[in-house]
Amino acid sequence: MSINRAEKICWKKCWILNYVLAFLLFTIWCFSMMWRWHPVVVYACKEQRSDVLILSPWLAPIVWNGTYNSVILNAQFHQRNVRVGITVFATKKYTIFVQNFIDTAEKYFMVGHKVTYYVFTDRVSDIPAIDLREGRHLVVLQVPTYQRWQDVSMRRMEMIRHTSQERFINEVDYLVCVDVDMIFSDEIGVEILSNLVGTLHPGMFSVPRESCTYERNPQSEAYIPTDDGDFYYAGGFFGGTIEEIYKLTNFCHNAMMADQAKNIEAIWHDESYLNKYLLYHKPTKILSPEYLWDDDFGRPDYLKRRRFLAVRKNHYQIRNRR
Ligand SMILES: *[C@@H]1O[C@H](CO)[C@@H](O)[C@H](O)[C@H]1NC(C)=O
Repeated sequence: MSINRAEKICWKKCWILNYVLAFLLFTIWCFSMMWRWHPVVVYACKEQRSDVLILSPWLAPIVWNGTYNSVILNAQFHQRNVRVGITVFATKKYTIFVQNFIDTAEKYFMVGHKVTYYVFTDRVSDIPAIDLREGRHLVVLQVPTYQRWQDVSMRRMEMIRHTSQERFINEVDYLVCVDVDMIFSDEIGVEILSNLVGTLHPGMFSVPRESCTYERNPQSEAYIPTDDGDFYYAGGFFGGTIEEIYKLTNFCHNAMMADQAKNIEAIWHDESYLNKYLLYHKPTKILSPEYLWDDDFGRPDYLKRRRFLAVRKNHYQIRNRR
């Protein structure tokens, strides 16, 4: 009898001990998990921006300084060995911008990643030889000359579409299409890469949609009704995968040609058609005006970094000289 009782007490104690042990182990596990995720949790809590919109209504991130961690992103894109192409058009006198554009890009654009510069020009011999870092290349592509700057600007869509099939699809994973009369003045990295990317126009940021300079002529292929539209995107900075860029440039070029046949030209040329496309094919990522700034718009508080800046120039002189 007494032996049985002693055994029972022992079993009870063992059970209690097991519970205590399990609880201890669980606590240790919790702490180790907290420790493991600690930096991310702190990052998410501390660095998010509360002064600006950081998510579109269709849940596309809007990229501002302080909304991402470039260490994590760089590791992710290095793992995929990503190749990035960047296109610029430097026709006529615009060739003078190429040197500074590439020099500053070498310092700030996608540093540490594979980059190919595609410079479209009608003056191949005016493009200087430029020293590039390892893993970076310069490709100069000959294009026809157009007299009006509006045509030069609009024909970019056709040429990007054409080259997407011919080259880009075999050579790069993402394409970034920008203006050449710009300089990089702060880091631009893989945080901008996504399937389809638009950039908020610095002058149209925080403007109500009725006042955005969308094309309002119902006859035009770029027409957007006054009660439609969300963001206004800049013609000078868009990007995405080659497939998405092909679709975008194909739409824009065809729409422009259809308008031309009707003797119509949208108010802001290629930018108007781009806005039409991006309104009905929502970007998967949106870049804040940090990625396309012009000091003519001043230095607002929300702008923590100016990464890509318009070069001050005399518009009239450069556009009209041949
Ligand atoms: C930009 O964001 C980083 C964190 O991602 C922060 O450390 C830095 O201070 C910010 N820069 C400015 C100018 O606010």
